[in-house]
Amino acid sequence: MTQEAYDIAFPDLAEAGRRKIAWADQQMPVLQQIRREFTTHQPLSGLRLAASLHVTAETANLLRTLRAGGAEVILCASDPLSTQDDIAASLVHDFEIPVFARRAESASAHYRQAQRVLDSHPQITLDDGATLIGELHKKRKHQLSELIGGTEETTTGTTRLQSMARHGTLQYPVIAVNEARTTRLSDHRYGTGQSTLDGLLRATNVLLAGKHLVLCGYGWSGKGIALRAKGMGAVVIIVEVNPVQALEAALDGFFVTNMAYAAELGEIFITATGDLNVIREEHFRVMKDGAILCNAGHFNSEIEIPALEEMATHKEEMRPGVMAYHTPHKTLYLLAEGRLINLTAAEGHPAAVMDMSFANQALSLAYLVKHQRDLGPRVYPVPPEIDGRVAILKLQAMGIKIDQPRIAIDG
Ligand SMILES: NC(=O)c1ccc[n+]([C@@H]2O[C@H](COP(=O)([O-])OP(=O)(O)OC[C@H]3O[C@@H](n4cnc5c(N)ncnc54)[C@H](O)[C@@H]3O)[C@@H](O)[C@H]2O)c1
Repeated sequence: MTQEAYDIAFPDLAEAGRRKIAWADQQMPVLQQIRREFTTHQPLSGLRLAASLHVTAETANLLRTLRAGGAEVILCASDPLSTQDDIAASLVHDFEIPVFARRAESASAHYRQAQRVLDSHPQITLDDGATLIGELHKKRKHQLSELIGGTEETTTGTTRLQSMARHGTLQYPVIAVNEARTTRLSDHRYGTGQSTLDGLLRATNVLLAGKHLVLCGYGWSGKGIALRAKGMGAVVIIVEVNPVQALEAALDGFFVTNMAYAAELGEIFITATGDLNVIREEHFRVMKDGAILCNAGHFNSEIEIPALEEMATHKEEMRPGVMAYHTPHKTLYLLAEGRLINLTAAEGHPAAVMDMSFANQALSLAYLVKHQRDLGPRVYPVPPEIDGRVAILKLQAMGIKIDQPRIAIDG
């Protein structure tokens, strides 16, 4: 590949990147199986794919799979802060996949990289936050007729695309991968569950056993966090606004109460709701001295940080990512500035979690190509048969056999 064909920061890091990609790959058996099938059947033969995704080892394995399926693939970063320069180097050097991404590049450089990727005139886009599809619809309308379809990885991106579809401005079909059941199960429940506690423990090194841990939100992510915290001996207290979810938490054996009372009981607080100011000034006022607060939700607005700033006489960083807010009566500790604790203090989802998400991606892309004549410019869920297939492949990889329902067999 000529040097103009890519833009990366440190080509010399390719060997380190190659090893990381190989390590992640052995945790991704479903994607490996799909890669073998793609190599045989070539479902993406001759197509140009452009991706705006986190430049990580897991993404590298997805792109290898798409290449094996016959596609030309080109990559830019969906977020420059998550770009791993060694992975970018290995993709270029070892897998001949052009990458336009440098870690922590400026917003304008990041924008230019996306433009260079779109200059390749893709027929399919892969997005994590609707960047490429947004640019195509805003500034490159002349290219839209070349597009077969796209995929979107996040809730935020999907919401934006659904709004475009409602307003009749979306010009090609997109499959929303984040809504697959296997993705939600592995990503939200088990990925967020484990990595949130990983982030909490790496940041603080506290003993969870015996601690009163207040968890706000008993949805997909909250259930995973609650289960893991309980398993490590914490006394888990659930705060929920949805009565059915609150009932489920109570029937699952958790102590359920409102935020006002939970604030008095907790020693550790985790938010995972997607809501705003779930923990606020009135709660800080009744909390115990030494309470620890962190967030696993998408935005850093679940804990009312401005109120904490207002209450504090001074702040002090006790350990990396652990900020003490000293008030006249107590000290409260905020982790990772209230940002996603599992991404800031730990490493985000394990490769095994992304295995299922990216398996849904790969199979959805093959589906888009096969059904391109039948699909209109709308946002589609992952077809249930793909979701089911991913679950079957994962069970096979885990060596688990299951039975068929009798009613289907007996007619
Ligand atoms: N950290 C990660 O890697 C990661 C992964 C997946 C999702 N998320 C984020 O976590 C958040 C939750 O995602 P989810 O998939 O669990 O969503 P979900 O909709 O399944 O669950 C959210 C739950 O929070 C409850 N809730 C809303 N407002 C509340 C409040 N004020 N107090 C108490 N409970 C409240 C809702 O009733 C719901 O049960 C979102 O912001 C999502 O983007 C983060």
